[in-house]
Amino acid sequence: MTIENSHPEQARSAVSKDAVSPTKAKVAVLISGRGSNMTALVEAARAPDCPYEVVLVLSNRPDAEGLTLARAAGIAAVGIDHRPFGPDREAHERALDAALREAGVEYVALAGYMRVLTPFLVEAWAGRMINIHPSLLPKYPGLDTHRRAIEAGDGEAGCTAHLVTVGVDEGPIVDQARVPVLAGDTPETLQARVLAAEHRLYPAALAKLVTG
Ligand code: GRF
Repeated sequence: MTIENSHPEQARSAVSKDAVSPTKAKVAVLISGRGSNMTALVEAARAPDCPYEVVLVLSNRPDAEGLTLARAAGIAAVGIDHRPFGPDREAHERALDAALREAGVEYVALAGYMRVLTPFLVEAWAGRMINIHPSLLPKYPGLDTHRRAIEAGDGEAGCTAHLVTVGVDEGPIVDQARVPVLAGDTPETLQARVLAAEHRLYPAALAKLVTG
């Protein structure tokens, strides 16, 4: 088996036998908006012992605030607008996939990427694509998770890092973090508490994924 056609972990261990330090897993982050989770991943990657590096940030919205943040952090950041592709979602994903492969990406982290993926991209990155979701899955897949948790009278809320499968927010759970729902919480106050937990959970979950 050559390094080129082996699985990323095998390729890295093959390289590390000869190299002084093992190669870090190359990660791309897909965003649609502000990119606070992307920033958390980038900041965590600065640690010398972090097992991944962020080599590319992609957005389906060329004006996403997160692209500006990524560029300021010295990371290649590209907008690939979904709108010119019209209803052909897979064609847009083929453009994303080409950019990922061109950059030598091994793992993909979705971080507020607001497009439902087709089986094409999900299957192309099966087992190597992770997402962060603002609820304790399997509770509250989809949108508006904080309002739903409050209205249900839940005593705790949280976030989930999970592998991406074709079913939305259904993939195997990598890790979760819990936060209390406090008396008087609004969706906004709970969202802020959960988001802080996301920023701690996601880098650790991604590190867990890339190290197997
Ligand atoms: C986060 O709450 C994440 O869990 C959800 O989308 C939001 C993205 O926020 N998938 P940001 O762009 O990372 O700030």
